[in-house]
Amino acid sequence: MSKKASFVEIDENTEIKPSKAFSKYARVSSMAQYKRMHAESIEKPHLFWAREAKELKWQKKWDKVLNWEAPYAEWFKGGKLNVCENAVDRHVEEGRGNKAAIIWEGEPGDKRILTYQQLQREVCRMANVLTNQGVKPKDCVLIYMPMVPEATIAMLACARIGAVHSIVFGGFSSESIKDRLEDSKAVAVITADGSWRRGSVVPLKDNMDEALKGNKDVKSVIVLKRCENDVKMKKGRDFWWHKQTAKVPAKHTPKGFSAEHPLFILYTSGSTGKPKGILHTSGGYMVGTYTTCKYIFDMQEDDVYWCTADVGWITGHSYITYGPLLNGVTQIMYEGGPNYPDWGRFWSIIEEYGVTIFYTAPTAIRAFIKAGDEFVDKYDLSSLRLLGTVGEPINPAAWAWYYNKIGGGRCPIVDTWWQTETGAIMISPLPGCTPIKPGTATLPFFGVDAAILDEEGNECKPDQPGRLVIRKPWPSMLRTIYGDKKRYKDTYWSDYDGMYTAGDGAKKDKKGNVYIIGRLDDVLNVSGHRLGTAEIESALVAHPAVAEAAVIGKPHEIKGESIVCFVTLKGDYKETDELKTELRNHIGKVIGAIAKPDAIHFAPAGLPKTRSGKIMRRLLKELVNTGKVTGNVTTLEDSKVIDALEKSLKG
Ligand code: WTA
Repeated sequence: MSKKASFVEIDENTEIKPSKAFSKYARVSSMAQYKRMHAESIEKPHLFWAREAKELKWQKKWDKVLNWEAPYAEWFKGGKLNVCENAVDRHVEEGRGNKAAIIWEGEPGDKRILTYQQLQREVCRMANVLTNQGVKPKDCVLIYMPMVPEATIAMLACARIGAVHSIVFGGFSSESIKDRLEDSKAVAVITADGSWRRGSVVPLKDNMDEALKGNKDVKSVIVLKRCENDVKMKKGRDFWWHKQTAKVPAKHTPKGFSAEHPLFILYTSGSTGKPKGILHTSGGYMVGTYTTCKYIFDMQEDDVYWCTADVGWITGHSYITYGPLLNGVTQIMYEGGPNYPDWGRFWSIIEEYGVTIFYTAPTAIRAFIKAGDEFVDKYDLSSLRLLGTVGEPINPAAWAWYYNKIGGGRCPIVDTWWQTETGAIMISPLPGCTPIKPGTATLPFFGVDAAILDEEGNECKPDQPGRLVIRKPWPSMLRTIYGDKKRYKDTYWSDYDGMYTAGDGAKKDKKGNVYIIGRLDDVLNVSGHRLGTAEIESALVAHPAVAEAAVIGKPHEIKGESIVCFVTLKGDYKETDELKTELRNHIGKVIGAIAKPDAIHFAPAGLPKTRSGKIMRRLLKELVNTGKVTGNVTTLEDSKVIDALEKSLKG
């Protein structure tokens, strides 16, 4: 394949076909092949998915590929498997023992390589430690870790013994951990003393101690030494990772669990104040993440793959820990910020390790553009052959820069649409066959029957926006909201009979390319992270000064969306800048730094409401974006409210 960089003129109508050089070695190399395979996957899912699943190791073969009684799916029923065995041991058995599984770089510059065999030993040790601590199959283990190999080791060790992991992103606060501990009833915790972030230490263990106050379920806390910051260790409850793992053998036999055995819970924001615990199970999730990596990232034996997400998000679950390791690929893991010590860090990593496949978020791309090309120009990126994006719509300008500046005008971009709930990528180009265009995730993956419907349930015409739905079950789909079957049904399966509603607005062009427009519910997408406006509002009203709050998203050049809050204060409180700062910090404390708003406005005369008392966020949005309200205000209870807000925004 040519490594020469070229420059392609790009606007939103540009369509780029895969090069012959790429297609020649790709898994799917023509649109005819894609169409044939997609048709089979929809019409005969049992044949299609059985063939994919057979490439993995099953301790007992399934009796039935799919059992579907909407909205409950069972995939590979009767089958028994161990996901960890598939991600680790299988490769050692197949002769990849000395292949690098994880090449890790710490933020301060420390480096480590773990081969598949070393990974196996470490995972076995942690599996033994957890078992010795009394963790049993189906018990939940909460993981709160930096981006170090031990985060992946901890996940895989849980999977190995059939425990259910629930990861809380390291940027979340004690209170967020506390909620998740309570909801998941975790019996053990795996964390670290601290985590590096742009040169300073985030005190993970201190946060955990705070979250564990009053908790009776957690029997043991395993603590990795990472930053050497001072921590308190509670006798009988807290144990050092290095001491525990030194005491146990590096061998452990992976038991087979049923295909529907729970694998993990991951909390995500929805339209109510309480995050939902999305439950994924073993067999289908394994097959889904394996297959999407194989076809969408076109993973080959000698690829060096790097996904820049954090394991605290679904992208880190499916496309750092599970999918790539299930494919036996070599991957890069990086601990710190993209701008540490400067904006060249990612490019230096790509050059140093010869990364071939790179997967990141549009928000990062926009930040790189702003930082300036000089940070890119210093490095040789010619090893790259495929680029990916995830998490939010990508604007054509960012796409063009990514394609030309990072991809040297020669690497296909896979814009991958999916969600925590879908477990794996649902809509994406296949790099060896799909013509790509900026702003569209293009076509559905195998097994995905995606449609765009209007409110009555009719399919939208080309270019007509509507709601994105999935009409058939797919292997890696969520199985329920942990502990709340009703909410599962109501949230995802009640808009249209037997169909999954994603919560996203979208449209298709004449060729069937899907353009994601954005969330239809009260969920914000800030730098690719999902945050519920209701969550932020409930954090605000928990502050003693706040009587009422409304939160909206405002388009933001780099983050995609920024958080804007409106608050009405209680009687005696004064509208001061100090109070605004206090409220920002308060949100940081309740949810985490990622939820800190960009702007807080006081609403002295109250919030705009309908006569039935509903907050009219539409008006707040218009006000923030244009400075005034021109739209329909006839349903507004008190029009003086708007005048007061307009004044407050100007002031
Ligand atoms: C948005 C992240 C446009 C979408 C994997 C979805 C996207 C939400 C894309 C899920 C994309 C994700 N183009 N929008 N390629 N990928 N989204 O659960 O609104 O953190 O509903 O999963 O991100 O966010 P989540």
